[in-house]
Formats: sequence, C-alpha cells, structure tokens
Amino acid sequence: MTVGVCYFPEHWSRERWAQDVEQMVEAGIEYVRMGEFSWSRIEPEPGDIDLSWLEDAVSLIGDHGMRTILCTPTATPPKWLIDQHPSILQEEPDGTPRHYGSRRHYCFNSPAYRDETHRIVSMMAERFADNPHVVGWQTDNEYGCHETIRCWCNDCARAFREWLREKYDDINSLNEAWGTSFWSQRLRSFEEVDPPRHTAAEHHPSRLLDYYRFSAESAVEYNAIHTERLRAVNDDWFITHNFMGDFNSCDVYGFTEDLDLITWDSYPTGFAQDRRPDAASPDELRAGDPDQVGMNHDLYRGAKQQPFWVMEQQPGDVNWPPYAPQPGEGAMRLWAHHAVAHGADTVVYFRWRRCREGQEQYHAGLRKQDGSPDRGYHDADKAATELGELDLGPVDADVAVLHDYDNLWATSIQPHAPDWEYWTHMRQYYRALRSRSVQVDVVHPDWDLSGYDAIIAPALHLVSEDLAKTLKSEVESGTELLITVRSGAKDQYNKLPDTSAPGPLADIVGATVDQHESVPEELDRTVTYDGETYSYRTFAEWLDPDEASVVGSHIGGVGDGYAAITENEVGAGHVAYCGIWPEADLADSVVSDLLDRAGISRTERFPTGVRAAERDGYTWVTNFTSDPVSVTPPADARWLVGDNTVGAFGAVVYEGVASNLSLK
Ligand code: GAL
Repeated sequence: MTVGVCYFPEHWSRERWAQDVEQMVEAGIEYVRMGEFSWSRIEPEPGDIDLSWLEDAVSLIGDHGMRTILCTPTATPPKWLIDQHPSILQEEPDGTPRHYGSRRHYCFNSPAYRDETHRIVSMMAERFADNPHVVGWQTDNEYGCHETIRCWCNDCARAFREWLREKYDDINSLNEAWGTSFWSQRLRSFEEVDPPRHTAAEHHPSRLLDYYRFSAESAVEYNAIHTERLRAVNDDWFITHNFMGDFNSCDVYGFTEDLDLITWDSYPTGFAQDRRPDAASPDELRAGDPDQVGMNHDLYRGAKQQPFWVMEQQPGDVNWPPYAPQPGEGAMRLWAHHAVAHGADTVVYFRWRRCREGQEQYHAGLRKQDGSPDRGYHDADKAATELGELDLGPVDADVAVLHDYDNLWATSIQPHAPDWEYWTHMRQYYRALRSRSVQVDVVHPDWDLSGYDAIIAPALHLVSEDLAKTLKSEVESGTELLITVRSGAKDQYNKLPDTSAPGPLADIVGATVDQHESVPEELDRTVTYDGETYSYRTFAEWLDPDEASVVGSHIGGVGDGYAAITENEVGAGHVAYCGIWPEADLADSVVSDLLDRAGISRTERFPTGVRAAERDGYTWVTNFTSDPVSVTPPADARWLVGDNTVGAFGAVVYEGVASNLSLK
C-alpha cells in the first residue's frame, strides 16, 4: 500500500525541484503525478514542443527511486488552439460559449479537438515511450468537472443525431420509443433533433435521458483516443482516469473496459457541504461523512471489481466548497487509512505545495507556499509509514448495492419532490449496512451478481425483462433481495410501461404499487414495521399485495392502512420491497432483517462517524468524530496500528474480523 503526490514542476523554479523531491522521499512518497494542465508549457507556440523540463522532472523523481504517472494535458487547451478553432469551445443550453480562461472548455465531440488530442497525446507518448520512470498515464483530468460532460454546441447536435440514427435506425422508431405525440413533439427526420437547448418548460424526459446517455458516451469515445494512442506506443503502461465523488453526469461503467485501473478524487469536507441535500454536521465539516466517501470508494472498486486508487486526496483546507474549515487534526491520515480499508492500493495527495498563482491559491498542499511542511505533510508521512507495512488482497463483500446512472438520471429528470436525490436515497441503505460493519460492493445491475448473500436495489427505476429474470434466478437460488421505492416504474426509454410498478419485478415482489406520492414534512410520514412506529421522508407508495406478506403499513394520512413494506418468498430466498424512503432507524431495522435472513454477521450499530471496515483479514476502525472512542476487538485480534482507543479523527488497524468488534 503506497502513498503518492500530485506535483506541478511548471509552477516552481528548477532550483526548488531537488529539495521538493528529497522531501517527498522523506515523506515516503512512491508515486508522483504530473502534467495534467501543462499544454501551454509543452507547446508554447503551435508545433513548438518543449518537453525537456518534464523529462528532467521525471528523471529527478526517478533518480530518487519514485515513479511517475504522467497525464495527457487535454483538460486545458491553450489559447492559441482555441483561437485557431473556436468551435472547440463547449456551449451552454442557451448557446453561450464556455470561453477560454479557466479549464475544461473543450467539447468531446469537436472534430478539431479530437484531431488535436490525437496529435498531442501521440507526441507525448512517443517522447516518453522508453522512459523507465514513467509507469502509467492518467487521461485528461476529471471528465465532467464543472458540469462539462454535457454540451449543446453544433458539433454535439450533429453527433447526437448520428447517435440516435444508430440507436433507432428510423425516426418512427424513435417517435414510438420516446412517445412524441405528447405536446406535439413528433419528428419527421433525425435532422429535426437538436440537443435539449433552452426551452420555456421542461424537456421531454425520454429525449433528456438519451441526451444524458449520449453525452456520457461521448466522453468515453473521446477517452478512447487517448488510450489507443498510449497503448500503441507502449503497452506496458497502465492507463487510468481520475473520476469524481457523488458525480452525476459521467458514467464510470462506460470506461471500465478501456482503463486498466479506476481512480477517483476524494475531498471529504467539500463533498459533505456541496453534494448532499442534508447540511453537514460540525464533525463532517472537519472530516467529511465516512459513508459518503466510503460509498464512492466501494463504487469505484466495484466498477472494475479490483483495487482502485485515490488519485487526489484532500491535503488540508480546500478552495472550492462554500466554506473551507481546517480538517480535524489527523484527518488527512484518517482518509488514507479509510481508503485503503475500502480497497485502495495507493492514495495520492493533491497537491505537493500550496500554489502561489492562479485559481487555487486558497487550496492547501502538503507543504506551505514557503516550502515548509503543512498539516497534511505530517499526516501523509505517517500514513505512508503505517500503510507501507501492508500488502493486502481485495475486499470480500457479502452484500451488493446496485447502482446505475440510468436510474440516477431518470429519477433526477423527474424527481417529483424538491429533495429527491438518488445518492442520498441509496446511501440510506448503505449507511445501515456500514453502521453495522458489513462490507459492501457497489455494482452495476448488469455485473455478475452471483456470489452475494444479499442484494439491495435502491430505486431501480428502469427495469428490463432481462434484469428482472437475473434477479429472480439469484433469489430462487437463495440470495436475499431488498428492492426500494420507485423501482420498476419505467422502461428503458424513460416511459411508463402499460403495467403497474414495479413492472417486470411485480412477479418476484408479489405486490404492485397502487399509488405513489411525494410527501412534504407537513404531512403524515409514519409507518409501522414489525410492531414499531417509524418515520420516513419524501417519497411513499401504497402497495397492493398479491403473494407477498405485509410487514409494514402506512399510518395516518390518506394512505392510512395501506401496505408500505412487503416480503415475498421466492424459491430459496425472499424479496422484500420497501415502498417508502426510510429514515435511518427504519433503514436499520429493514436491513438488519435482510442480513438475518441472509445469515450475514454484523456488529452492534455504531454511531454516525465511527466505522469498521474489513479487508483481507484486517480490520480498520475509523473515527470521523472529534471524540475518542474505545473499542473491544475480537479476542484473537492482533493490533497492527494503534490500540483500542481510537482518537478523535483517528484510525486503528488490527488483524482479525470486523463482525466481532464492539464499542466500550
Ligand atoms: C480536483 C481537480 C484538481 C484540483 C482539485 C482542487 O477536482 O482535479 O485539479 O482542482 O480539485 O480540490
């Protein structure tokens, strides 16, 4: 398990490089990532290439025993290139260009930019082809950051029409699939289709869903230019891309075949503030939400079903969330441990040194702008020493939680309530699992689902007959399945089928949805489950049971007495259906019952912020709170890092299982 750092030699004088690199070695750094925004330094004038500075930096790093990951510099096309080809710029839905002056200002579908990408990537790859210190490449940087997956320019319009032609073949199939009789949206030819530009009211949901899919696929297609060029030059390099947390528009599953390694960028105190409908608690402002970060770890691990890396780890305070509190003392070490516990093999801190220029001056590095160590440096150093001792295999999870961008997009296109949010809904179940120390794979519904004792399918909104069959056969052979509210409601075109929800799942659920409603907090939001009363939030269904037994019912409101939660025996397993969005206590009860049926062992329910995660025979206890906690590990546990007192924002590790751990 190793630690790395992102470095920008182009921001510092050469005199400084040697000292920086020596200090990296002192901190136990093994990987250095460079080059992602360097195009205007690499090619200051069209065709005038200067890579010697980057070669020197790579050599210096290599001479000190560290390895380099280079990035293709395409996230920031230089000004001269934009002036040569203004059509490279992305456009907003109202036609406003996203001008030069920041980053990510290019369109994935621009033919001119695709050619330029081919040229610059080939040139860099050839230059470093035999360099022994370069072990891998990151393509571009954070596809979609600043909401740039979707673009509405003319190149996208042309490409979208082609994409639709390919998918539907003739326009009448599209009219049929989308349902264009509504509001007079019938089209006569593919030429009549535009990207969903600015309109008076909302767009057709089927058109939007296809546009979201098309845009996500455009990024995948664009990425393939990089991977094809790099592999053609040196097939030994690994190729990765750095994805983002709780990110809505970029579909990681499209990239998995073409990348050797999945990495993502983790900024816990930022995510807790800007990527959740619920306000961040004081502890979350200092260290983030372990389940928000953990679910992304598990998603990016699940995407390729192998270890992943954190390519950018928050190093201290950052510039972009609404507020930038200093992380709790030790949090930068805690995050590295937490990532490794969830299956990361390498954690790369962003960035080495606070930058003295440009947009990110208010972003910490491991070193301060004067070069002296900052708070994160000591944490990274400690993490590198502690994690360097470990050589671990993968996480072995008993439970799969299904995740899919189609469901995210379709429910966000028609959220039906101001606070419907796919990630938060899904995380309610994930939290229930993680608060009892259960390991989780977050996986795409089309992945191999055999081998799990239990599967949770949150808001499986679009369901095909094939997926329904797969789930049925898993349950028949003994898997315990929990399906949640809004499932089976739509077909693949984001249209209601002519059956009631949960559509193709009704057979295994043993019930159908009679009514659904979104419910503001002024109205009754109460159900009974197993003799207890619980509250829920935002979304409810009234179920009409057929074969299924009713285990939870609505009380109060106009749905009083209707079934809310059901269970149905199917072969050797059961299918539970939870027709409300539960608050934490109810999610815990429903999930605990699922785990009981599946025979999965678990701990007592740990408080928010305290989590245990098991990987390859080792257990981490991570404390994202400002109060120390005491734990009692299993009798045969052997402490590896720390002991049974887990300090504020601390992490301890023992050899032994997680499920026998208790809090004192
Ligand atoms: C990431 C990005 C980095 C840097 C960082 C700041 O999203 O990849 O280049 O901007 O955020 O936290």
